[in-house]
Amino acid sequence: MVPATRAGRVLRLRKGRTVATNLPGPTNPETIFTYGSPLVKFGFGAAEEIGFDLAQYGVRRALVVTDRGVAATGAPHRVADQMAKFGIEAHVYDGVHVEPTDTSLEAAIAHARESGPWDAFVGVGGGSSIDTAKAVNLMLTNPGELMDYINPPVGKGAAPVNPLKPLVAVPTTTGTGAESTTVCVLDVLALKVKTGISHARLRPTLAVVDPRLTFTQPAGVTASAGMDILCHALESYTARSYRTFEHKTPQQRVPYCGSNPISDMWSEKAMRLLATSFRTAVLHGEDEQARADMAIAATFAGMGFGNAGVHIPHANAYPIAGRVRDFHPKDYPEHEPMVPHGMSVALTAPEAFRFTFDAAPDRHLQAAEMLAPGADRPAKDAEILPSAIVALMRDIEIPNGVAAVGYTDGDIPDLVDGTMKQQRLLATCPKPVNEDDIAAIFARSMELW
Ligand SMILES: NC(=O)c1ccc[n+]([C@@H]2O[C@H](COP(=O)([O-])OP(=O)(O)OC[C@H]3O[C@@H](n4cnc5c(N)ncnc54)[C@H](O)[C@@H]3O)[C@@H](O)[C@H]2O)c1
Ligand SMILES: [Zn+2]
Repeated sequence: MVPATRAGRVLRLRKGRTVATNLPGPTNPETIFTYGSPLVKFGFGAAEEIGFDLAQYGVRRALVVTDRGVAATGAPHRVADQMAKFGIEAHVYDGVHVEPTDTSLEAAIAHARESGPWDAFVGVGGGSSIDTAKAVNLMLTNPGELMDYINPPVGKGAAPVNPLKPLVAVPTTTGTGAESTTVCVLDVLALKVKTGISHARLRPTLAVVDPRLTFTQPAGVTASAGMDILCHALESYTARSYRTFEHKTPQQRVPYCGSNPISDMWSEKAMRLLATSFRTAVLHGEDEQARADMAIAATFAGMGFGNAGVHIPHANAYPIAGRVRDFHPKDYPEHEPMVPHGMSVALTAPEAFRFTFDAAPDRHLQAAEMLAPGADRPAKDAEILPSAIVALMRDIEIPNGVAAVGYTDGDIPDLVDGTMKQQRLLATCPKPVNEDDIAAIFARSMELW
């Protein structure tokens, strides 16, 4: 049964399936959703064909964008080297900052300008490298400053006026799904905020997902990035339906349009793959099947959330990562403190889904069943999904809550303030969420078990 709350109503979708929403009903409900994804080439050895693929676009000079950790695995240079036999001159830029900042993006853009012109860009690495390649591509093809394109209120949210160059995204982590999304995430250092650039033209032309490149991913990165997959799938699956928004004009359409039948399908697939392979990929990184499952799960979840959107755990992750003081996670660069993206998202996820449960109980229960089929279930329905997430976090050694990465109750007002700035994400939450709700989620997330 679906409990309808005070302001709540129940939308009857078809026999036996309901989506509850505590949201005020739209006066003119949306009837349209959009779905976008890049061309995808998946499989062992796929990265060896990038020279051929770029040659199809008439590319003569390509810039490979990566970070030093990924460069040390040799993968970016291998990708660059095989382009020569297709007449492509490729250079490797390895100055990407792990979790890009405005300063690191400006440095990459300056390097690309000085060493250009380039016909194409190839991001080889995790979300940090792929997002940096997106920003470089945007700024080498369009006028103005980076700030012009950053989402408001931090930037001006301008749309690119020119088409971008071909961008090939080659993930080496199993997490962000950045290879299929229209987003570039960055830290604006002066303002201590994480924000993004979001436009359909940022979407890579081609995603080359080669599980072999992920084998060198350390366990700590596999765990954190995998929690990002999990939260992308869960948040987009529980996002408010596109039908609960007001009807948009074509000009108003945004990449994140709410949960819809196509993104649901990808999120479901990703959850089933995580159920079988997440723990194995972290604990036995040499397991080829687990690595391949995680690689395709990351892309599937990216194809889901990249169209539906994410909500509270991602909104909370921005201030958790942005206000870090001295936490140094295992297997990440040690020279500066950070809470990696996937970890920062995971830390409030159990509480966030406890909070959203009553807005869409069926969805939460179905997600728990896909993630932990046959697991012992707590008696209260609202506890089933949070308990499945916590069990997974414990097994793969994600820190036990927000306090474990250095925050105290005294930080909650600042954290809440940071979350409330992410209205673009909170708008996809399946129920209204205010400052008190977020404060309670942070307070209960200080220690999770
Ligand atoms: N664009 C999007 O849609 C999107 C979505 C989610 C997150 N993000 C952003 O992506 C970034 C996080 O990306 P990520 O989690 O993929 O990790 P990452 O790119 O930050 O890399 C994490 C660490 O793993 C290392 N590494 C990566 N692949 C490796 C490999 N195969 N072998 C050895 N070391 C390897 C890197 O050198 C780095 O030290 C954040 O900035 C986050 O905000 C973007
Ligand atoms: Zn994410």
